[in-house]
Amino acid sequence: MRPLLNVIDNRIFHLHNDSVSYILYLLPNNQLGHLYYGPRVTATAQTLEAYTKLESKSGGTVHFSAENTMFTLADQLQEYPVYGTSDFRQGAIAATRGDAPLYLNFTYQGFAESHEKPRNLALPASFGQAGQVTVLTVDLADAAHGLTLQQHYAMFDDSAAVVRWQTVTNVGDAALTLTRALSGGLDLPTADYRFVQLSGNWARERHVKSRPLAQGTTAIESQRGASSHQQNPYVALQAADGTLQSGEAFGFNLIYSGNFQASAEVNEWNQTRFMIGLHPDQFAWRLDPTTSFTTPEAVVTYSNAGLAGLSRTNADFVRNHVIAPIWRDRPRPVVLNSWEAAYFDFDTEKLLKLAAAGKKVGIDCFVLDDGWFGHRDDDRSSLGDWQVYAKKFPHGIDGFAQSIHDLGLQFGLWFEPEMISPRSNLIAVHPDWVVAPPHERRAIGRNQYVLDFANPAVVDNLFAQMSKVIDATHLEYIKWDMNRNITEAYSQYLAAIGRPQGEFFHRYIQGVYRLYAKLLTAYPDVLIEGCAGGGGRFDLGILFYSPQIWVSDDSDAVERLKIQTGTALGYPLSAMSNHVTAVPNGQVNRTTPLETRFNVALFGTLGYELDLTQEPQSVLDAIAAQIRLYKKLQPLVLTGDFHFLRTLEDGEHNTVAWAIEAADHSRIAFGFYRLLANPDGNAVDRLRLPFVDSQASYSISGRAVPVSGAVLKHLGLRLPYEFNGPNQAVAELAGDFQSKLLILTKEG
Ligand code: GLA
Repeated sequence: MRPLLNVIDNRIFHLHNDSVSYILYLLPNNQLGHLYYGPRVTATAQTLEAYTKLESKSGGTVHFSAENTMFTLADQLQEYPVYGTSDFRQGAIAATRGDAPLYLNFTYQGFAESHEKPRNLALPASFGQAGQVTVLTVDLADAAHGLTLQQHYAMFDDSAAVVRWQTVTNVGDAALTLTRALSGGLDLPTADYRFVQLSGNWARERHVKSRPLAQGTTAIESQRGASSHQQNPYVALQAADGTLQSGEAFGFNLIYSGNFQASAEVNEWNQTRFMIGLHPDQFAWRLDPTTSFTTPEAVVTYSNAGLAGLSRTNADFVRNHVIAPIWRDRPRPVVLNSWEAAYFDFDTEKLLKLAAAGKKVGIDCFVLDDGWFGHRDDDRSSLGDWQVYAKKFPHGIDGFAQSIHDLGLQFGLWFEPEMISPRSNLIAVHPDWVVAPPHERRAIGRNQYVLDFANPAVVDNLFAQMSKVIDATHLEYIKWDMNRNITEAYSQYLAAIGRPQGEFFHRYIQGVYRLYAKLLTAYPDVLIEGCAGGGGRFDLGILFYSPQIWVSDDSDAVERLKIQTGTALGYPLSAMSNHVTAVPNGQVNRTTPLETRFNVALFGTLGYELDLTQEPQSVLDAIAAQIRLYKKLQPLVLTGDFHFLRTLEDGEHNTVAWAIEAADHSRIAFGFYRLLANPDGNAVDRLRLPFVDSQASYSISGRAVPVSGAVLKHLGLRLPYEFNGPNQAVAELAGDFQSKLLILTKEG
């Protein structure tokens, strides 16, 4: 059903679809109050009357104005609050004129409704076809300060999500500065939640961390110029008594890739204000007369089936309304990436042998990673010079691409467009294109500086360089990397055109999106994989353009159990680029079985990243069989429902179980992983599959007897037999880091 908007009494706005309701209303001061977001309710003026009646809290409250001493904003649930106007909590928006703060007062003017949200490459945003979406725009104005505010809400027919964003316009005759313009969030009447965040570091991205809310502020942020390895913009508020599978949970994310802040502030009455948006520190946007500023979109999701249910809501929303439609259901190529196979140490002959070995095992696309351009033999030179390294490619990059295509493989290349090496031709010509104040000390990371993507000439230059290579190679795939964060943020371009440096970080990310848009407009079929020193920019802004992102530079199967668990809480499996790599693992030196590396990687978009020319035939045969199996299972990864059955965070810390059910419910891929062998491992021997059809019967790969759905649901799936002395003869798991993949097929 198309989402509907009911406007009750000209003051209550009820946006709903089959599953959820979102209700906002006019407060007595004509600002926008928040009433409800959760399972669909039927709302009439009468039923809502009691809930919109205002009771003033006693004890030291400040009231909004002398006209109404019964009313304060201090305890109101609001849609887009302002600090310091009888509310002492953090606000969503703030502005100054000169050095004077403006106490903004946006009052209701009217509303509009539309039913289309087209996809537009210019900036990342959710989209929906005509009739699939309802967009409510509430118009507010602050006449005293010459500003209007449009509050936008989008609801889709197939999702519990509500998307929020704002447009602020200067309709006065003097410039002002926006010092805070968050994308909103959700005011909640209680504080009975845990703040669930995905945090870590390089090679340890998106581990699940959770803490209870308490009076005060719980917050995460990035001020690194990227969404970051350290904190991800996805946050959940989980009911304090909820579990992985049960209880209410709200999800929040931003369709954005730069600095952000997400916070939950609990006030003295245990009300919670969750907000997410552009990080207000380092942000100052000059709003000249007649110009507007539009905030990135915040995606708010709801589930009453715990964090696992919320993850499915998030995944479906991202697949249907964020990722490019051409990639949604299309099988992604299984790539062989040269990085961990050869690093910088290669020539044409070595690469062609590698690619040919890949072709033999069933690889679709050969990706030539770092080291093919400029004079790059290590990470100390040539970023910015995207011309072939002639010493390594005597027949040019076009000649090499032709050889790859002749093998029957697609061809992919690594670029790091946003970076520049101190040793490069580009820096010699354009020293002012480096992010930093001129002539000052500047920090260096991975031997490189950041290019000023706030400067359109820089973006145009990179597009021109890249398109030459794409044209010459008939490229099918790009790995877009980004390997350092921004320090000494300063744009010489913005200084030259007289814009505030407070605009830099946002304009930088807009420049990144502009290059994406130019590339995808010129080359709509090229698959651009996102990457940022592993998973340092795994966010919805990048996913809007890149349907998949390299999850982490740590490809060890055990490490990946944690990283992929966290990532799957907020993002679809198809977005996760997972490679099977060699052992001992390059990051942790751990040796895991090839089968386990594959069983973990298949819960995502599969690739390989090891020197196949050095592997024995038995390994090559096993890899060929894995790729054949993956191609059969890939539709489940692209369109199925992912189920967390056990995680290291909530289980007994030694086993993990994941499942994907096909969209048509015909098949289930069930992955079971055990870290360390244990002498009485059979103590935990079965696991319930709550999502199966209890009327059906399921055959299970490798097991003789089919099992009824009711048994799987209530008694549970018998887990793989483990080695524990007497079980030796039947053991399916023997030793450390073992795993088992079971395919359950519904038999009617
Ligand atoms: C980053 C990426 C790796 C690889 C290297 C190349 O670390 O995450 O996958 O591309 O850069 O320098």
